Amino acid sequence: MIMKKIDISSTINRIKLSSCIMNASGVLCSTDQELSNLLNSSTGAVLTKSCTSIPRKGNLKPRYFEWNMGSINSMGLPNFGIDFYLNFLEKKKTKKPIFLSISGLSIEENFFLIKKANLYSKITAVELNLSCPNIIDNEEELGYNFYKISDFLKNIFKFNKKPLGIKLPPYFKDKHIKKMALILNQFPIFFVTCINSLPNGIFIDTKTESTVIKPKKGFGGIGGPIIKPFALANIRKFYTYLRKDISIIGCGGISCGKDIFEHILCGASAVQIGTQLMKEGISVFERLEKEFTIFLQKKNYTSINNFKGNLKSFQ
Ligand code: DHB
Repeated sequence: MIMKKIDISSTINRIKLSSCIMNASGVLCSTDQELSNLLNSSTGAVLTKSCTSIPRKGNLKPRYFEWNMGSINSMGLPNFGIDFYLNFLEKKKTKKPIFLSISGLSIEENFFLIKKANLYSKITAVELNLSCPNIIDNEEELGYNFYKISDFLKNIFKFNKKPLGIKLPPYFKDKHIKKMALILNQFPIFFVTCINSLPNGIFIDTKTESTVIKPKKGFGGIGGPIIKPFALANIRKFYTYLRKDISIIGCGGISCGKDIFEHILCGASAVQIGTQLMKEGISVFERLEKEFTIFLQKKNYTSINNFKGNLKSFQ
């Protein structure tokens, strides 16, 4: 049997990725060593841990827990501050696209971070995180504030020249996704990433009759296989409502090659791996690439453009 060559490259707007698979922000992308491992892996891009203007220790431990169906976390944005990430990246010789994730705690801090990222040529794009659910006493995430976000973006695009994408929280109503898409369509946004963890979940250890993470009385963001249906639904709806040049990066519940296929069938141009990267380590990327390629071979597809966005409705 002759095997056709399978091409899993993709583009995020005008950014070329040799593989449509990359890490999700937050997981194994904080330290020098973790970022070097990602740069040397087969991912199509490297995404950094969401950073703030100064270093943060984050919330008290334990702040991450995983079980067979998912994960819960309340990290509280531990990071080394934007300068660490910019200096690390400036030193590195790589052709891989680098996405800098930023997550200011206020609108002003986000302006500051985006302005700074604009000064660095090694940053291919910025993923602006408007959906961190774990900051104690924080204002509502901008991703859920339909009134503030429009003005916020208007001000960013007065000065921003970098390719910019937005990491969104999950939405649970069609009208919310429609509303957000209509706002985003008014701006020169490169991509959206759907979805961040489902906020305010809880996991219980029945032996101790206790929560499993310490911050915020045990409430935290849920990731992993159990959130996949919500990720797929958000991707699908944004795909139908967003301008066609705004790419979607799918994130949520991917643990095998078939999951990647489902994200792309819904309309994603690339995918991010979070919980499964945490569980399995850096070798997850080789496994997923292999599984995804074999899956496409069986389907007789040779590239992701053969099926991207082509989800059918049940007849
Ligand atoms: C953290 C969690 C998130 O879901 C996110 O988007 C950013 C930061 C955290 O707790 O560190």
